[in-house]
Amino acid sequence: MRNREGESLKHQSISPGLDYITFGNGRHACPGRFFAVYEIKSLIAHILMSYDVKLEKDGVVPPYEWHGPSMDPSSTGEVLFRARR
Ligand code: HEM
Repeated sequence: MRNREGESLKHQSISPGLDYITFGNGRHACPGRFFAVYEIKSLIAHILMSYDVKLEKDGVVPPYEWHGPSMDPSSTGEVLFRARR
């Protein structure tokens, strides 16, 4: 989407908008979102570099759950981690 004309700075995980309200929108949009996204990306990078990860039943994604207005990953599905050597 960022390849579109005039949109190179849009569609980032920190870009607030009415179609992406994770960090709110407008004047009070979360000022901590830049830091939060760096933290999340660092955490994911660490996990991917340090562990082999797979779902309990290979290829079967446990059903997502609705919590109020947000759809979240299953809270009971199991994810297996094996430390890489
Ligand atoms: C994944 C992590 C985070 C999420 C999902 C999140 C989400 C939000 C949301 C939805 C709002 C309300 C925006 C609105 O009223 O329109 C907000 C406000 C705020 N957040 Fe975050 N936030 C996160 C992390 C952080 C961090 C790490 C900090 C500080 C280091 C922070 C500081 C603030 C502050 C100060 C406000 C109030 C802004 C205002 O009212 O002007 N947040 N956040």
